[in-house]
Amino acid sequence: MEKFVIEGGRRLDGELQVQGSKNSALPILAAAAVTGKSSILLNCPRLRDTDAAIRILRHIGCEASRAGDAVIVCSDAPKRYDIPEALMREMRSSIIFLGALLGRFGKAEMCAPGGCAIGLRPIDLHLSALEALGVHTEACGGRLCCTAPNGLHGARITLAFPSVGATENILLCAVCAEGETVIHNAAREPEIADLAAFLNRCGACIQGAGSDTVSVTPREQFLSCEYTIMPDRIMAATYLAAAAVTGGSILLRRAAPQDLLPVMPCFEQAGCAVRAVKDTLRLNAPPHLRSAKLIRTMPYPGFPTDFQASAMVMASVASGTGVFVETIFESRYKHVPELVRMGAHITVQNNVAVVEGVPRLHGACVQAADLRGGAALVTAGLAAEGITTVTGLAHIDRGCERFETNLALLGAGIKRVHLDVE
Ligand code: UD1
Repeated sequence: MEKFVIEGGRRLDGELQVQGSKNSALPILAAAAVTGKSSILLNCPRLRDTDAAIRILRHIGCEASRAGDAVIVCSDAPKRYDIPEALMREMRSSIIFLGALLGRFGKAEMCAPGGCAIGLRPIDLHLSALEALGVHTEACGGRLCCTAPNGLHGARITLAFPSVGATENILLCAVCAEGETVIHNAAREPEIADLAAFLNRCGACIQGAGSDTVSVTPREQFLSCEYTIMPDRIMAATYLAAAAVTGGSILLRRAAPQDLLPVMPCFEQAGCAVRAVKDTLRLNAPPHLRSAKLIRTMPYPGFPTDFQASAMVMASVASGTGVFVETIFESRYKHVPELVRMGAHITVQNNVAVVEGVPRLHGACVQAADLRGGAALVTAGLAAEGITTVTGLAHIDRGCERFETNLALLGAGIKRVHLDVE
C-alpha cells in the first residue's frame, strides 16, 4: 500500500505540460481494435486505466505496446470477443469495449460493469442504442452475451440522456454497420469529437461529433494511422485548482484552453487571472480566493462533474458561501467527509452541498474513494496547514499521470510513501 504525504502551505509556481486525456485515450484504444490496422496513438497517458485497456487489447489478440508517450496497437488478427471478469473489474470504463467488439466481431461477451464509488452507472442507454443497430443481448450466467444475428445496420437513435459512454459505444459499432446512423441528443464532450477524429483519420466518415447530432456513414475499409490524443481538460483544471488554492501561478502548456471554457467562470469568480495564448493557459491566483456562488454539474458544455470535487476544495478555502448541485452522479460527494476532517465547513443534503469557506484547512489523514475526489483531497492537502496523508492512491493512479512528480516540480511538498504490509 502507498500513501501521499503532503506538507501543505507551499505556493505552487511553474510550468507544466498537460497529460493526454484519459477519457479520450480509453475509447480510442478500444477503437484501435475495430480498424484491423495499425494505430500509433501519441500522447497516450501512462495510467492504471490505460494499462488495463492495453491488457484488454492483448487479451482479445491485438498487439499493443508502449513506446515513450505512444501506444502502438496492431489489430489485424484479434481472436477473442470476450472480456474476463477480472479485466472488466479493473476498469469500469471497459464497457467501451462492448461497441468495439460488436463492431469488429458482430458479437461480444462480458460481465456487466456494475456500480462504482460514484454511483450505480447503469448501461441501459448503451444496450438500447446497440439494439437499434441490430444487437441482441442476453444475460447468461451474470454475463452479457451480445450478438448481431442479422448483422449490424444503421439506425436513427435518440438518447434519453446524452451519455458519454453510450455515444462512444454507438460510434464504435456504427462505423462497422451497414447504412447510415444518426444519433440525436448525443453527448457533446470534446472526448467524443476526439474519438470521431481518430476514427475519421482511420477512414470512417463521422460528422457532427461534438454537437448533439452525429451522423456516421459507413466506409468500406479502414486505414492505419498516427493520431495524437487530446490534452486532459480535467487534469488541466485540477492543476489550475492546485495553483489557485495555494495562491500560486502556473503556466499550462498543451492545455487546449477552448475545452476549459466551462470551468473558467469558477476561476474568474474566485479572483484568479486566467489568460489563454494559443494552446497555453496561465493562471495567477490572488492570496485569498472568493467563492463561486453556484456550481451545477451538467453534461458538456456545462460544468463537468469530474471537476466538482476540486472546485469544492477551492470553495472550502474561499471567502463566502458556495452551493454545489451534482446532477450527473448520485454518490459523488465521497470527498466531503474527508474535507470536513481537514476543517472544511460543508453540509450535504441529497445532491446539494453548501460550502462555507474557512480561512484555512488543516492537515489530516484522509482516504480517496474515487479518482477525482482523490485528486481533490491532494489539492486540499496542498492548501492545508501541516501534514496531510492521502491513502487510496489506486484511485488517483487511474487517471493522474505522474501527479506527485508534477506537483513537486511546481514546488509542492508531496511524496509517495510505501507502507509496509505487516
Ligand atoms: C464518462 C467519463 C466520466 C465522467 C462522465 C460524465 C469516461 C471514461 N468517463 O463516464 O469521467 O464523469 O462521462 O461526464 O469517459 N447513465 C444511465 N444509463 C446509461 C448510461 C449512463 O443512466 O446507460 C447515467 C449514469 O448513471 C450517469 C449519467 O448517465 O448518471 C452520465 O453517465 P455517462 O455520461 O454515460 O458517463 P460515463 O460514460 O460512464
